[in-house]
Amino acid sequence: MFPVVFRKNLLTVKPYVPGKPIEELERELGISNASKIASNENPLGPSPKVIQALEKALPNLHRYPDGSAHALTGALSRHLKVEANRVFWGHGSNELIVRLGQMVLAPGDEVLFAEPGFVVYPSTAQLCEAVARPQPLRDFTHDLKLFERAVTHKTKVVYIANPNNPTGTLVPLSDIESFLKACPSHVLVVLDEAYYEYVDDPSYFGSLGLLAKYPNLVVLRTFSKAFGLAGLRVGYGIGHPELVEVFNRVREPFNVNSLALAAAEAALGDPDHVKKVTDLNKAMRQKLFDGLARLGLKPVPTQTNFVYLEVPNAQDLYQGLLKKGIIVRPMGPGALRVTTGTEKETSGFLEAFEEILAAKGAA
Ligand SMILES: Cc1ncc(COP(=O)(O)O)c(C=O)c1O
Repeated sequence: MFPVVFRKNLLTVKPYVPGKPIEELERELGISNASKIASNENPLGPSPKVIQALEKALPNLHRYPDGSAHALTGALSRHLKVEANRVFWGHGSNELIVRLGQMVLAPGDEVLFAEPGFVVYPSTAQLCEAVARPQPLRDFTHDLKLFERAVTHKTKVVYIANPNNPTGTLVPLSDIESFLKACPSHVLVVLDEAYYEYVDDPSYFGSLGLLAKYPNLVVLRTFSKAFGLAGLRVGYGIGHPELVEVFNRVREPFNVNSLALAAAEAALGDPDHVKKVTDLNKAMRQKLFDGLARLGLKPVPTQTNFVYLEVPNAQDLYQGLLKKGIIVRPMGPGALRVTTGTEKETSGFLEAFEEILAAKGAA
């Protein structure tokens, strides 16, 4: 029996369940060509310029990283045309989601977020002994009018994933601004734009332009998705300089490691690679969407690198796909989330899925 008593609220925190690792499935099936389209990763991987930068950084691993991320902050602030004192960095944007919650939430405060949504928002609320107040989606999309009505004097943080994970939908910038206008300024509004680079809907863009007008807004993005650096863990936030200053006081001193710093800077310097990734993604999400629709299913139109699909027997379908060496993500009993892969992975998934559905129909 472990003798130390943990804080009570921690006992109810659900652990983050990652997608099944590809190596595990390959071991189980005795195969070497499994495909993982479960974790919204980038199937093309990082830019060759990133690999070069990493090789150059390797001999200096005995040194601590630049804790202020000076060079990377300069590169990002030029890239986004934002002041450097608005930029802050995290061990993935995940760290930022949690840390921002910890910076603001006291026990009993309320946190709003969409359901279904990204699981780190409710676990942050639990970690902080705050009250999680999930808001249902409407047509698979954030209903910000509902959020507006749900704000009380106890609300301290609102998380909005735009586009939303797992449904892939977005709310236009005008709706974000209407919400900000209606929201009391003591509420921290965290706009999580993890899939920003994949979006092509013109109504979406411009959140950074709202920062000057709404000091309680903070925008989060990541190098894990379109830049292909999920394994290195680097994400960033853009917010009010005073928020950045407090964040830098409470974060760990070297929360972004030296390889991640070098890789992110190199990734920013290769827009052609990002274009290659987002072009492939655009073609593959259309292929996925059309292929699933052809099977008589109703995938949700997506602005991300994944497609959400309600199906009555998600767990069976998930297991059926695993047997064929394909890992997707079950989202509870009634939905699957499928990440876009390479052409081969996407076609392979559609073929396997059709076979499984046909076998079920025949049974
Ligand atoms: C909406 C959303 N936000 C944040 C993250 C975290 O990304 P990372 O910590 O890799 O930057 C993810 C990852 O899947 C996500 O889907």
